[in-house]
Amino acid sequence: MDVPKPECLKKNVNVPNKLLMGPGPSNCPPRVLKALSQPILGHMHPETFQIMDDIKEGLKYIFQTNNTLTLALSCSGHGGMEAVMCNLIEEGDTILIAKNGIWGQRAEDMANRCGATVKTIDTELGDNFSLARIQNAIQSVKPKVFFIVQGESSTGVYQPLEGIGDICHRYNCLLAVDTVASLGAVPLLVDQWNIDAIYTGSQKVLGVPPGITPISFSSRAQKIIFSRKTPVQIYYLDITQIGQQWNCFEGPRIYHHTVSSSLLVALREGLALVVEEGLEELMKRHRDCAKRLYDGLEKLGLEPFVEEVHKRLPTVTTIKVPDGVNWLDVVGYAIKHFNLELSGGLGPTANKVFRIGLMGYNAKPENVDKVLKVLQGGLQKSKNNKCLFKL
Ligand code: GLV
Repeated sequence: MDVPKPECLKKNVNVPNKLLMGPGPSNCPPRVLKALSQPILGHMHPETFQIMDDIKEGLKYIFQTNNTLTLALSCSGHGGMEAVMCNLIEEGDTILIAKNGIWGQRAEDMANRCGATVKTIDTELGDNFSLARIQNAIQSVKPKVFFIVQGESSTGVYQPLEGIGDICHRYNCLLAVDTVASLGAVPLLVDQWNIDAIYTGSQKVLGVPPGITPISFSSRAQKIIFSRKTPVQIYYLDITQIGQQWNCFEGPRIYHHTVSSSLLVALREGLALVVEEGLEELMKRHRDCAKRLYDGLEKLGLEPFVEEVHKRLPTVTTIKVPDGVNWLDVVGYAIKHFNLELSGGLGPTANKVFRIGLMGYNAKPENVDKVLKVLQGGLQKSKNNKCLFKL
């Protein structure tokens, strides 16, 4: 054999226990970690089907929908975005994308790759879209799909959704929403708000590892997908087949791909925890923690990137990097001395902001206080090049 055994694999793996207070993934609750160590099941075993059925019920609860086409994809949140694009869009269809951060940019890229005619609307960084703005754009573009992000984690902006679905339907357009960074922390009523395609991330508020992505399509969207003139471009994300594996339609389950039973069990546990706590309580916990963080940041003299409180995403808070501070010093200080992850900006906010995540299991007052102390210490160190603060 020409390739020798790699030396690195003869050593034990290093997986430090970090406190993940960036924009995600967040730490998994102990019950989810325990669920991950359950025995492996086959993807066509009856116990796996039962777990999938339980997950569908949990997803209907967190999305607040009765959509039959509700399931979890075997991919990260990006796969959810790609699934929306490749199932709803055929070559030449027009999509309108609300772009106020990296996720709108990614959606634009994916829609272009699907052969769509892509139109966008944008805002100042750190702002969201008004209903009037959305209505005008939909009225003039007349897209097949309107795509918007509820929680823009690159800027820390929250986008209210109420009323957008009604506008879309008035103009015969489907509404697709990304809730990867927001679901569980802010209100979401998929059926009441007439949302046609929705997905979220497992690794944020749900506290489940990345790699399994909840998604749901309305009956309106389902009808459009099933009447496509061309097959869905990406076999792996073809919802007409995955839906059959998840028993969402009439007819027997089929084998589409090998679903990870470990991730299914973990997702089921994450959903069980949400059900035990209740969505209202979960949202309140996130709101309370965010308020505690905003108050603490103000005391530290830090400036929020999103000025108006009601436009801030409770899960991901963005703070302007103060003059004279190198954000990398602060983030490096936090990880080196406290094993605590803070994050810098992403895409259009790179080098401009810090991002602090408060999600799921990590959304606790004691974590907020710890972040504030570490942030203060890191800022002092970056300014004075010496550590004035001790936990
Ligand atoms: C990922 O979701 C990020 O916002 O960095």
